[in-house]
Amino acid sequence: MTSVGIDAIEVRTGKLRLDLAETFAPAQGEKPEKYTKGLGLYASSFPDVYEDIVTMGANAAHRLMDRKGLEPDDIGRIDVATESAFDNSKPVSTYIAGCLEQVYEDDFHHANKGERKFACISGTQSLDDAFNWIRAGRHRGRSAIVVATDTALYARDDPGEATQGAGAVAMLISEDPDLVELSTEQGYGSADETDFLKPQQQFPSVDGKRSVQVYLARMREAIEDYESVVGPIHPEDYALGPFHTPFPGMVRKAAALAFRHFTRDTEIEEQLAADIGRQPRREAFDSDDAFREAAGEYTDELTDTDRYREWYARCVDPTLELSREVGNWYTGSVHVARVSGLKAALENGENLTGGRMLVGSYGSGAQAEVHAETIQAGWAEEISALDLDEQLDARYDLSFAEYEDVHDVHNHDEDAGVTDVEGFTQPDAEFVFDGWGRMGERKYTYVE
Ligand code: HMG
Repeated sequence: MTSVGIDAIEVRTGKLRLDLAETFAPAQGEKPEKYTKGLGLYASSFPDVYEDIVTMGANAAHRLMDRKGLEPDDIGRIDVATESAFDNSKPVSTYIAGCLEQVYEDDFHHANKGERKFACISGTQSLDDAFNWIRAGRHRGRSAIVVATDTALYARDDPGEATQGAGAVAMLISEDPDLVELSTEQGYGSADETDFLKPQQQFPSVDGKRSVQVYLARMREAIEDYESVVGPIHPEDYALGPFHTPFPGMVRKAAALAFRHFTRDTEIEEQLAADIGRQPRREAFDSDDAFREAAGEYTDELTDTDRYREWYARCVDPTLELSREVGNWYTGSVHVARVSGLKAALENGENLTGGRMLVGSYGSGAQAEVHAETIQAGWAEEISALDLDEQLDARYDLSFAEYEDVHDVHNHDEDAGVTDVEGFTQPDAEFVFDGWGRMGERKYTYVE
């Protein structure tokens, strides 16, 4: 069967940076350790005044096309995944295609364009759409571009304000990909939940603590559903486990539960039994509560073992490095985690060709999806072509007062939005927001 997957990837961070431990925590009257240790976050990225979901997405897609030597005729589909859209009818992909047409001679009139919505998981759903389109043989030899782009803002003083971020990931989906091949096998965990939603409003209504529990419950279902297709997962089966990362502490919790699940009835459980006993089994307890308490105690001991720590340091921690510096990018988050894990492996001189990743996506509302990706021979070249470190280093460090202004600038509520804030950085060979058109549309220009 045709091998289909991600041929190349580009990441575009918002050009502003808020230091959570040094700047945000003191202003909120909180300890820096809540961020650095509890949530596992050091900084959030934000868009400058001339950036938004379109500019970040278009700039990522432009670099992707340039780097791969592509012309519009090579692209048959442009899908955008976002939960920060500013238009209920015209999809963000049309705005992005319009930007790209300013810098290419040809147009994208032949390309199918759309916009996917399901909170953070829609980036992965767009990958599915592209995969299915190619596998169905409808692509006429062309590739798809998937852009996951968000400005993840919460209302001021909402607990979610700790986990904001902004950026875009552009992915090229093709036959015989250079980066990763996507598995046909998938697992789902999906339920009607009201833990995080934006009913006709820009900033989310969130029940934060419940959202954490819903993430864990749906992810568990997705893993079990995936195992019903491929058989039991063993922790050594996968080189990396990039998961949706609203903040690294969330994945730390998920990883502990996943490892407990993966090692049940394996030689690892037996080897650890001398030190921490065997895993509690439900049938040995009178009530769910008693079982849960015992399972929680076992998990705490498990995460203290060298075996767990070695697995976590190798498979999970490298996927969190970028997230710590940029925060939650909603639809882009799991795709940032993938890049983060591969980038860390490259820097450590590892050869991952042929290795597999277990990818866990999640969107509130709520749905989790799990699939595997096989790392292709071109992965090291693809990852070394990224300019991510330069982008992160070039970000402008905001003071708290500047952060307050930036939050207002990106507030869609016209009364709250301020337009007289000067940019903090200079545009350089990129698309910028350029004001409003006669029908209320946002307009964009390429600045040399
Ligand atoms: P909070 O009330 O700000 O923070 O809520 P907290 O008091 O729970 O502290 C956070 C962690 O820091 C805790 O760790 C504290 O113990 C620890 P935990 O007990 O959970 O392991 N802590 C400290 N550690 C060391 N030293 C200290 C210290 N102080 C505290 N001094 C919350 C945090 C994440 C709930 C909030 O920020 C929030 O509501 N965020 C938004 C919702 C969210 O991100 N949910 C995640 C799951 S849902 C999801 O992933 C989907 C999403 O991406 C949206 C989508 O799909 O579209 C959000």
